[in-house]
Amino acid sequence: MFYIKDNKRNLTDEKRETFSSGLAVFFATLGSAVGLGNIWKFPTLVGMNGGGAFVLVYFICILLLGIPVMISEFYIGRSTRSNPVGAFNKLKAKPFWKIIGYLGVSGALFIMFFYSAVAGWVYSYIFKAIKGDFLNISSLSIHQAGETVSSIFESTVGASISPIIWQAIALAVVGIILFAGVKNGIEKITKTLMPLLFTLIIIICIRSLTLEGARDGLSFLFKVDFSKITPSVLLSALGLAFFKLSVGMGTMITYGSYFTENNNLINTSFKVAFSDTLVSILVGMAIFPVVFTFGLEPGAGPGLLFNTIPLVFSKIPFGNVLLIAFFLLTAFAATMAMLSLVEVPVVFMAEEWDLDRKKSVIITLLIMFIVGVLTVHPSSIFGHITLFGKNFFDLFDFISSNLILPIGGFLIAIFVGHKTKKADIIKELSNNGELDNSNKINIYITILKYITPLLLIIVFLNSIGII
Ligand code: PFF
Repeated sequence: MFYIKDNKRNLTDEKRETFSSGLAVFFATLGSAVGLGNIWKFPTLVGMNGGGAFVLVYFICILLLGIPVMISEFYIGRSTRSNPVGAFNKLKAKPFWKIIGYLGVSGALFIMFFYSAVAGWVYSYIFKAIKGDFLNISSLSIHQAGETVSSIFESTVGASISPIIWQAIALAVVGIILFAGVKNGIEKITKTLMPLLFTLIIIICIRSLTLEGARDGLSFLFKVDFSKITPSVLLSALGLAFFKLSVGMGTMITYGSYFTENNNLINTSFKVAFSDTLVSILVGMAIFPVVFTFGLEPGAGPGLLFNTIPLVFSKIPFGNVLLIAFFLLTAFAATMAMLSLVEVPVVFMAEEWDLDRKKSVIITLLIMFIVGVLTVHPSSIFGHITLFGKNFFDLFDFISSNLILPIGGFLIAIFVGHKTKKADIIKELSNNGELDNSNKINIYITILKYITPLLLIIVFLNSIGII
């Protein structure tokens, strides 16, 4: 029986690519997780939601919600070697469950509409740093320096044509990489660049921690004030945890479908979640001391990263070179994450609609470009329209992070926790009995069955005011 299943798996997999090794699996998955979420979104949300209390809730969400859902997605992906819609056919699940895949495809689009715009800002900052736009900051007073960087950010985002062009460039880079089909290239790029990004963030951290505002910055980041935990803080932390780990929308089903047979799925998810969270915390430790030293507003919103990083580099020898390197590496991290986002609709179209892979890439990127350009910039044609009190940028972010990902995560938890045979889960997570990890599997299944869905429901009902 097992043989038949495994043979089948190999036959249907012949034309599907897999990552080449365990290390490649780790770096590719981390490449999807680490991105603008750590460097841009994490500090923005920590700033807007009151600091340490948010960070604490975020950690709990990673542990009890993000990791169990990630393991479940790996399970679905590797056991079916299929896209997030086709996977449920292969598992012989009721058609209803395919909704997880469809939600994932729409989630990828919603995220990319605004994510590619922010990636465009990052690309434009590389260019500004090369041009020397930040060179004179170091000679200004603290107050003037803060004002100068803020006005550079405002004009970057508010310009009429350039943010759209930069968004197009960011999407074109993703297209070129996907076209070249360099799965190997992607693996190699991530392996080299992740450690570099890590090193640079540590350098910024060290400099930031020696600024006068370091103590205030750290206490903002780590001191927990329980009165700050409101329903909307809970929902934002939950949404961020899913967004950060790229779970709840089938990205990890897709990546899991490329994993090697002997990969330890539980260990991989812990390693990825731990490394990813470490990057976010380090970025927080780099940014908040600057905020307090320069008297900036922690809750300033999406400009926080762009308004603080140039300031910290203005206080370091060779700061401008490091600033260029920082935005370059951030652009790479954003690009790796975008590859995984675009991969979801692309594999879906290629496998479910039998479309040529290249055509799927073009269609997906075009949709992302057209909707993104028409809506998310202040100067976009629909840029000034607000729905439910939000502009399109915030609305797409809210719909994806706070609705699609948690709902997708909930359905995944119910499907694997309650609709899948325990023996099948054990078989996949223990690599056919090769790993001696039955305790870990049991803990995972218990959390997934009871705690994950319950917490998700509580946060949800709480945020819409029902409890
Ligand atoms: N995890 C990425 C980040 O934090 O930047 C964003 C992301 C990638 C979200 C892939 C969702 C996803 F499926």
